[in-house]
Amino acid sequence: MRINIGYFTSTGNTLWLCLKGKELMEQQGHTVKLYEIIKDKVAFAQDECDLTGFFYPVWGSNQPDPMVEYRNNMPQGNGQKIFFVGNCCALNGDTGFYFKQILDKKGYDVFFTDHLYMPTNFNLPYEPGNYWKRVPLAAERDRLLATAEAKLQQICDSILNGERKVDGKGVISRLAGALQRKSYWIVNGYKSHFSVAKEKCINCGLCIRMCPSENITENAAGEKVFGNKCILCVKCYNLCPVNAVLICKKSINDKKYRRYKGPCQTIKPTEYRA
Ligand SMILES: Cc1cc2nc3c(=O)[nH]c(=O)nc-3n(C[C@H](O)[C@H](O)[C@H](O)COP(=O)(O)O)c2cc1C
Repeated sequence: MRINIGYFTSTGNTLWLCLKGKELMEQQGHTVKLYEIIKDKVAFAQDECDLTGFFYPVWGSNQPDPMVEYRNNMPQGNGQKIFFVGNCCALNGDTGFYFKQILDKKGYDVFFTDHLYMPTNFNLPYEPGNYWKRVPLAAERDRLLATAEAKLQQICDSILNGERKVDGKGVISRLAGALQRKSYWIVNGYKSHFSVAKEKCINCGLCIRMCPSENITENAAGEKVFGNKCILCVKCYNLCPVNAVLICKKSINDKKYRRYKGPCQTIKPTEYRA
């Protein structure tokens, strides 16, 4: 089978899962192509295949904005088979069920949705009450990755066997999902609080290059300026090599508000443009 997978990743967890998933599926004789949903969206949409999948990080019981946009713009399907594999750090809500409803209405056959748990990249200084989940230290991160890898194996087997499954369709998941999507404006409030700690910044320009929405520019004085196109992927916040990007003033304390540097050294999704 030719399997095409579209994905979005901020800090590499989803990409790590995609690469593992590709390997597992190819071991069973299939051909798998991965398409990053911003850079490769045209190629992804045009490349014919037998099975289409989406790997995504859960954002407030939804997908990242570029995936929502892609999903909303998908043409009418013709019974085309689709699977979704989400990953989150704590609460998946009803994402699988929710996406299935949207795409089934468009004529697709969303036959499989499931999710797994990965380390959080969202260690924000919430008010009130500090943070909801801390970025794990290396040992805990590796434990989470090992558990995720085992579950991914099952997920890939199920997908390849054409098993039908939809996660998140229980009443509690659906309530949690609906509530999270409704209250997401609270999280979105962080979009307007980004800044750069000048005394820390080494002017490497990585934040500018890796921002998926081209939201960061530099003014004549060489200062970083954040526009109004932020999608809150928190790439700049997490992957700045010297933790100079702040999501609010309190985040200057990077011991307390640890940044997530990704699942492993070799996966650093930092480049969108040269
Ligand atoms: C804006 C944003 C919203 C998030 N919302 C949720 C959420 O609702 N539930 C959850 O469990 N994790 C949430 N997370 C955590 C990520 O889904 C999780 O860490 C994921 O593995 C990150 O994948 P990535 O490295 O590929 O971007 C959120 C992360 C971000 C950046």
